[in-house]
Parts: sequence; C-alpha cells; structure tokens
Amino acid sequence: MSQKTLLLGASRRPELRRLVTGTPATRRVVDRFVAGETLDEALAVVRSLTGQGIAVTLDHLGEGVTDRGEAERSRDAYLALLDGLAPLRLGRAAEVSVKLSAFGQALPGGGTDLALELVRPVVEAATAIGTTVTLDMEESATVDSTLGVLAELRRDHLGTGAVLQAMLHRTLADAEALAVPGSRVRLVKGAYDEPSSVAFRSRDDVDAAYARCLGVLMRGPGRPMVGTHDPRLLSVARRLADEQGRAPDSWEVQMLHGIRVDEQRRLAAEGVCVRAYVPYGADWYGYFMRRLAERPANLRFFLRSLATTT
Ligand code: FDA
Repeated sequence: MSQKTLLLGASRRPELRRLVTGTPATRRVVDRFVAGETLDEALAVVRSLTGQGIAVTLDHLGEGVTDRGEAERSRDAYLALLDGLAPLRLGRAAEVSVKLSAFGQALPGGGTDLALELVRPVVEAATAIGTTVTLDMEESATVDSTLGVLAELRRDHLGTGAVLQAMLHRTLADAEALAVPGSRVRLVKGAYDEPSSVAFRSRDDVDAAYARCLGVLMRGPGRPMVGTHDPRLLSVARRLADEQGRAPDSWEVQMLHGIRVDEQRRLAAEGVCVRAYVPYGADWYGYFMRRLAERPANLRFFLRSLATTT
C-alpha cells in the first residue's frame, strides 16, 4: 500500500485524529496550511492577502458531519463568515468554498436534500454581499449529488461554482456539460484515494487528463479556475488562455494558502488573477492529512517536528 493511500486512509480514522490533533508539535506544521482557528484570524489573513492583490476563497474547515445539528452549525459558521466579510466590501475578491459533507450530504435518508436546504441560505447571503460560493468536490461517490445541488443553486445564483477532479474518468464529460455561460469551474487534480475503476492512478495520466479538461473549459464561455501549483500545468493554462484570446480577468489561478506563496505573488504581479484558498477553523484534521499525503516532504517535516519536541 502506498504512503499516500495510508495517509488518506488515516484522514478518515477518528482514533488517529486524536493522536495527531492532541500533539502540540503538530501546531507548527498545521499553521503553515491553516489560517487560524477563529474567524478573526481568518479575516486578518483576508485583509493581508487582498491588500497584496491576491483574491481569496474561504473554507470553514469541517467535513463528514454525522447529524443535522452539526450540519446546521456549518451553515451558521458560513453565515457568520459572510457577516464578517460584508464590512470589508471586497465583493468577488473574497468568496467562500463549502464541502457539502459538512452540510449533511452523507446523512442517510435525504442527505442531498438536507445539504441543499442548508447551503441555500449561505449562497443567498453571499449573493447579497456581491460574492459567490464554490462547492468543493469530495470522494467520487459524491459527484452526482454535488453536481445535482449545483444545478439547483445555479437556477437562482448562476455564478455558483463547482470543482472538477481531473483524475476521474468522468470529468471530461462533466467539464463539457459545465462549459456553459456564467459557469465557474475550479479544475483540480483530485485529493482523494480513488480506485482505478473510476480514476487515473498515474501522475502522467492525471496531468494529461487535466490538460484535456482545461482545454474544454478554456474554450467554453465560463470562468475556468485553474486549481493547481504544478508549474507545467500553469504554463499550459497560460498558453490555452492566450490561444483563446481570453481577457486576463476572464479566468484565474487558484492555489492553497501557504503553498508556493512566492509564485502566487509573482503571478499576481504579472497581471494574472490569483486566488488563495484559505481554510480556517478547529476541524483541520482531514484537510491537513490530505496536504501531508500530497507531498512526502510535508510528512518528513511533520515527523521531524514530532521527534524534536516529544
Ligand atoms: P502536484 O501535487 O503535482 O504539485 C505540484 C507542486 O506544487 C509540487 O511539486 C509542490 O511544489 C507544490 N505542492 C503541491 N501540493 C503541495 C503540498 N500539499 N504541500 C507543499 N507543496 C505542495 N482537491 C479535491 O479533490 N477537491 C477540491 O475541492 C479541491 N480544492 C482545491 C482548491 C485549490 C485552490 C487547490 C489548489 C487544490 C484543491 N484540491 C482539491 C487539491 C488538489 O486536488 C490537489 O490534491 C493539490 O492541488 C495538489 O496537486 P497540484 O495540482 O498542486 O499538483
């Protein structure tokens, strides 16, 4: 079993969650990826990044809730976030990203309907302050449900965004279906452990699929959001945007908070629209484990900090 598969498996194990989150040394490593545990800390990061010409999408950390009460608390956290953003008057420079599993999507007996019911007021509150919501994409089994919720939300809020994962075999068709006027699609490689029956497993195959899907989105009338830190795919994106004669403000690059920060600043200085994905909140375990899984060097750094402080 690969190290990546092990870490992604661990990201779903509650007993390991306690082991990792209860260790003081973890904090320093987590701080690199997470903007803080409180809304005030997150808003300070928003002010700083937008002041440097980098837009943001904020993620209130949490996923896989197990009852309706927890799902309602996710909704309330996002409503508080949008209240906090309102006086900053940043419009679309500060939008939000949500994981529907934090809104009850996986609950038995109508989870998709519950997620739609609870996410709708968040989308309405975002529209009211002139910004948008993007639905993050989770495990492949949730894609139909998430795209169903997206279609419902787009009836009244056309700019609601989706995430497509290039690693999934289905994604080229999904990209074609979403290359429509007003759509916003963040294309990413995919952070979950998926079987070869539904996903490309080799890096080369995933990269080639990414380039194909990005071509579809760049040729379409929507707003492609290029969610990657990969230098090769970033040059593909710029070439495709040039070939299509796209205006610089008609597409954007998105990167995660704390990753390739110098490159984020460099691209923004060159006139590329750059948006940082800024997670905050106390429930950082799943997000953090996926970041460790993406890069062996992160795991080594994490294990070294454990060894030097315990
Ligand atoms: P790749 O993994 O090849 O990395 C390229 C380079 O980027 C590395 O060599 C390294 O320099 C740097 N890098 C990448 N990851 C790093 C890390 N963790 N730590 C340090 N350096 C790193 N996935 C998903 O399934 N659903 C979603 O909704 C989202 N949402 C999302 C939003 C945004 C804005 C981004 C950028 C990414 C996501 N992802 C995601 C995650 C995505 O699927 C993917 O796992 C990561 O972006 C890593 O893949 P890259 O494309 O960056 O390439």
